[in-house]
Amino acid sequence: MPSRFFITGTDTGVGKTVVSALLCAALDAHYWKPIQTGTREGTDSKTVMHLAQLPRSRVVPEVYRFTPPVSPHLAAQRAGIRIELRKIRMPHIPAREALVAEGAGGVLVPINKSQFMTHLMRHLKLPVLLVSRTALGTINHTLLSLAALRAARLDVRGVVLVGPPNSENRKAIERYGDIPVVGNVPKLAKIDRNVLRAVFQRHFDRAVFQS
Ligand SMILES: Nc1ncnc2c1ncn2[C@@H]1O[C@H](COP(=O)(O)OP(=O)(O)OP(=O)(O)O)[C@@H](O)[C@H]1O
Ligand SMILES: [Mg+2]
Repeated sequence: MPSRFFITGTDTGVGKTVVSALLCAALDAHYWKPIQTGTREGTDSKTVMHLAQLPRSRVVPEVYRFTPPVSPHLAAQRAGIRIELRKIRMPHIPAREALVAEGAGGVLVPINKSQFMTHLMRHLKLPVLLVSRTALGTINHTLLSLAALRAARLDVRGVVLVGPPNSENRKAIERYGDIPVVGNVPKLAKIDRNVLRAVFQRHFDRAVFQS
């Protein structure tokens, strides 16, 4: 099986896009952000293209795009539409190629009146990676997110930490979350394709991502 993952996080702004760019750079993966809000501030697709030096052909177009920088359920409501999972179809990419899909915000972000980001993950049937901070507070946020992902019967493959390495937090997440931490992206002064590939080589459990 090629590497195909859904990247979710404990929060908005936690580092999902940087982790997605890292995986795209390291695995030559396709990138897909099915639901994008806050387009005026820029899009995650553009950020990933820039950071990972990904050609446009490797970026799957968004299905839903909204201008206001608010939760998808609210952005859609303001646009007078309803986000419908049946309209979000897995892209047809060659069987041997990797795919990184990025969620919006955290795990229980609503996408319409009755469904959450977890429903999108179930719908796409992708294994999930949870991006968390290394900083204080992360144990609680990570365990809560894992509980919600598991309650939704998702296949959670691991946690990716972002921030200055904190071995105690890492150990606590692995022990209490019963989950491997599969990578740690340290705080980076400069983020580009080469830096991201080097971080993958040094700080990730590469076996998890092998096809
Ligand atoms: N390892 C890192 N080192 C330095 N800056 C980082 C790192 N990871 C993320 N950032 C910065 O933190 C900010 C938020 O990161 P990012 O956009 O990846 O979060 P996100 O979880 O994708 O947010 P959203 O919910 O909006 O999609 C960005 O400005 C990004 O460049
Ligand atoms: Mg993002």
